[in-house]
This record gives sequence, C-alpha cells and structure tokens, in this order.
Amino acid sequence: MSQAPAEKLLEAQNLDVSYGVTQVLWGISFSVARGKVTCIIGSNGAGKTTTLNTIAGVLPTKTGRVILNGEDVTALPARERVNRHISLVPEGRQLWPNMSVEENLMMGCFLPNFRHKAHGSLTRIYDLFPRLKERRRQMAGTLSGGEQQMCAIGRGLMSEPQLLMLDEPSLGLAPKLVDEIFEFIANIAHQGVTILLVGQNVNYTLQVSHYGYVMEVGRITLEGPSDMLFNNEHVRRAYLGTGEEVSAG
Ligand SMILES: Nc1ncnc2c1ncn2[C@@H]1O[C@H](COP(=O)(O)OP(=O)(O)OP(=O)(O)O)[C@@H](O)[C@H]1O
Ligand SMILES: [Mg+2]
Repeated sequence: MSQAPAEKLLEAQNLDVSYGVTQVLWGISFSVARGKVTCIIGSNGAGKTTTLNTIAGVLPTKTGRVILNGEDVTALPARERVNRHISLVPEGRQLWPNMSVEENLMMGCFLPNFRHKAHGSLTRIYDLFPRLKERRRQMAGTLSGGEQQMCAIGRGLMSEPQLLMLDEPSLGLAPKLVDEIFEFIANIAHQGVTILLVGQNVNYTLQVSHYGYVMEVGRITLEGPSDMLFNNEHVRRAYLGTGEEVSAG
C-alpha cells in the first residue's frame, strides 16, 4: 500500500547517488505525504543521511528526480530548495558552538527571502521551546545535548519549512531527553509541518510517524504504514530486537 498521489508533498523517483565512483543509493523511490510524518529506518551505512542530503540538494543525483509540490527541483541547488521551504536538521546538529543560541537560530533564515520574517520566526520558536528563550544568550557549545538538539530543530524551523527533514534527532541523548525530543517532534507535526524523519530509535520513530520506509544497503526494501512496520516480523527482529507481535503505542 503506497501513499495516495494527491497527498504527496515530496516525491523521490529512482535516485542513484554516488560518492566518487562508489554508488551508495540504488533506485531509491519514496514519497512524503503533506501534513504527515514519514520515516526512513535502516542500519548504519544504509544510506539514510545520503538520501536526506540528496533531497536537500547538498548531493547531486546521477539519475532520477526530486519532485516538490509537483515541481521538478532535481536541478536546483541547495539554497533554491531552502527558498522552497525544504529544511534539513543535519545529523550531529552542526551548531556553531561559539555563537549564542539566538545567533544559531538566526542562521536558519540567512537567505534574503527569510530575513524580514526573522523576528516573527524567533518568537514562534521561543514559544515552542521556552528553554531556548531562557538560554538565548548562552553559547550553543555549552548547551546540554538535548538543548543542542532543540536549538538545531529550532534553527530548522526558522525558515517556516513546508518539509522539515530530521536526521537522527535523538542520537546520543539520554533516555529522558529522547522522550522529550520525540514529544517535540509530535508537537511540531501536530501543528501541520510535514516531516521526513530518519531515526536510529526505531521504536519511537515508528510510533511518531504515519508511514515508513526500510532502507538496506542503499535500497528501499520495505514500506508501509508505520503501525504495520512496527508489527512486521523482519522489522521486529532486525531493528527492534524482538520477534514477537506487540501493538504500537
Ligand atoms: N562523504 C562520503 N564519501 C564517501 N562515502 C560516503 C560518504 N558519506 C557516506 N558514505 C558512504 O555511503 C554509505 C551510506 O552512508 P550514510 O551516511 O548515508 O548512511 P546512514 O544510513 O545515514 O548511516 P548512519 O545510520 O550510520 O547515520 C556508507 O557506506 C558510507 O560509508
Ligand atoms: Mg546517517
């Protein structure tokens, strides 16, 4: 069962991506439904980050197309995709440690089209993450891991994305902070932001998403509604460390 065509905000068609002579994505196709959370799960090195970077325009695709809102954006550079409100919160956060929280957030709307909206966006982000407001003058490098992730997500939201891509948002966080980050993601999704989520924490990732894709060594091997994947025998054994049937939620 694939996602209904009318709902598609993003469609990746048949992407082949290489680093030099080494091909790592092989005919990747998937779609992201508007207003929903779609996830990609898979082992280390499967190609999840490569996929997000290709959608963001950071990496070129050899063949295949990236369609956003019905528009072919395959040839557009990364900044033009930001202008079309695609936002990537990269793996490992990549904040500027010696800049304040607020300066980091402001980097999320560095393109001319977004600058005039910066003040309103900041207010919105501070409403969403009061802790960032309290710490707005603090250097980002001195924030806790969870606060740094909030700051990175906040920066990603500054450009009012129609598509927010999150790469391993809970990586390296203590269990309590993992809970908190996934609560925020659910909250952002609830506000209608379309999310493409890559998650190492497969349990939470499937619980917070509506539809998912399983990626294995550069190929999509399985897709379906997240609750179905959650109960899939292969997914349970390979990613959830159990083979028994249990219910999501
Ligand atoms: N800059 C690069 N140059 C060469 N090969 C790379 C580069 N980045 C990634 N790769 C390779 O591409 C493959 C896919 O990597 P990618 O980072 O997309 O995986 P991933 O699914 O995000 O893994 P993880 O769960 O560990 O983050 C891996 O084999 C990796 O070694
Ligand atoms: Mg990765």
